[in-house]
Order: sequence, then C-alpha cells, then structure tokens
Amino acid sequence: MIGGWIWGCFPPALFLVVTGATNGISKAYAHELAGRGLNIVLISRDLSKLEHEAKAIERLHGKSTRVIQVDFTGGLEIYEAIAAGLKDLEIGVLINSVGKQYAPGLRKLLDCEDFAKHF
Ligand SMILES: NC(=O)c1ccc[n+]([C@@H]2O[C@H](COP(=O)([O-])OP(=O)(O)OC[C@H]3O[C@@H](n4cnc5c(N)ncnc54)[C@H](OP(=O)(O)O)[C@@H]3O)[C@@H](O)[C@H]2O)c1
Repeated sequence: MIGGWIWGCFPPALFLVVTGATNGISKAYAHELAGRGLNIVLISRDLSKLEHEAKAIERLHGKSTRVIQVDFTGGLEIYEAIAAGLKDLEIGVLINSVGKQYAPGLRKLLDCEDFAKHF
C-alpha cells in the first residue's frame, strides 16, 4: 500500500486533509497531491479563498473537495467544526501547516501560559 502511495496510485476515495490550504506551501501540496489522485479537504480562515481554491482543484485535477472554515487561534470548539467536516471521509494523509506560536521568541512549551489554557 505504502509503495502504491509513493508512486501516486491512491485509492479513489482517499482524502488529503490540509490546513492552510489557500496559500503557500500547503496550497502547493494540495495541488500536487490532487494531481496524484487524492481528494482534498481544505482548512483555513477565509471562506471565499477556500471555495476559490477548492474549485480550482476540482477543475484542474478532477478530484473531490470539501472546505472547513476555522481559525486555529480559536478555542477548543474549532475541533467540533473540524470533526463535523471530516465525518465519513476516508483520510489518508494530513498536512498540518498552520502553525501556532504560544509565546514570543523561544520558550519551553510547558512554560507558556497560553499553551496551558488549551489543556
Ligand atoms: N514559507 C517559508 O519559507 C516557511 C519556512 C519554514 C516554515 N514555514 C512554515 O510553514 C507554514 C506555512 O507557511 P507558508 O509560507 O506557506 O504560509 P502562507 O503562505 O502565509 O499561508 C498560510 C496559510 O494558512 C492559513 N492560515 C493562516 N493563519 C490561520 C489561522 N489562524 N487559522 C487557519 N488558517 C490560517 C492561510 O489562509 P487564511 O488567511 O485564509 O486563513 C493560508 O492558507 C507556516 O507554519 C510557516 O511557519 C514556512
């Protein structure tokens, strides 16, 4: 199976989930892997950019898409929206590119107050 994935023979119903899908590195991954046969779930903040990019993937690569609009600076409730958006999908790959910084500069993660609020 892994060998098939490496050479781009993905099962037809399989999805890539990609955060930050409307720009930069993740957008490039979304197009590259849609071109290799994966359906794409796009996750970021701006719904119009998400819908624009989803249509471009469907048009250029002929794959299915789904969009989930969330802001990762939100609280734990965003994960309900993500879980609902991913329901019933067969997910093969995650590219989690949206980064979150819990403190300015370098700090030990467990020393960051904001980080502690999320657990
Ligand atoms: N570019 C580089 O040279 C480089 C180098 C090393 C590491 N990285 C890391 O790689 C990741 C991607 O970088 P990039 O340059 O490709 O970024 P980018 O071009 O700025 O794209 C960021 C993407 O993330 C989405 N996004 C931003 N904030 C978000 C939030 N709070 N919630 C949900 N979605 C959000 C944006 O869409 P919306 O604005 O619509 O939400 C956009 O689709 C980052 O974590 C970056 O730190 C980048």
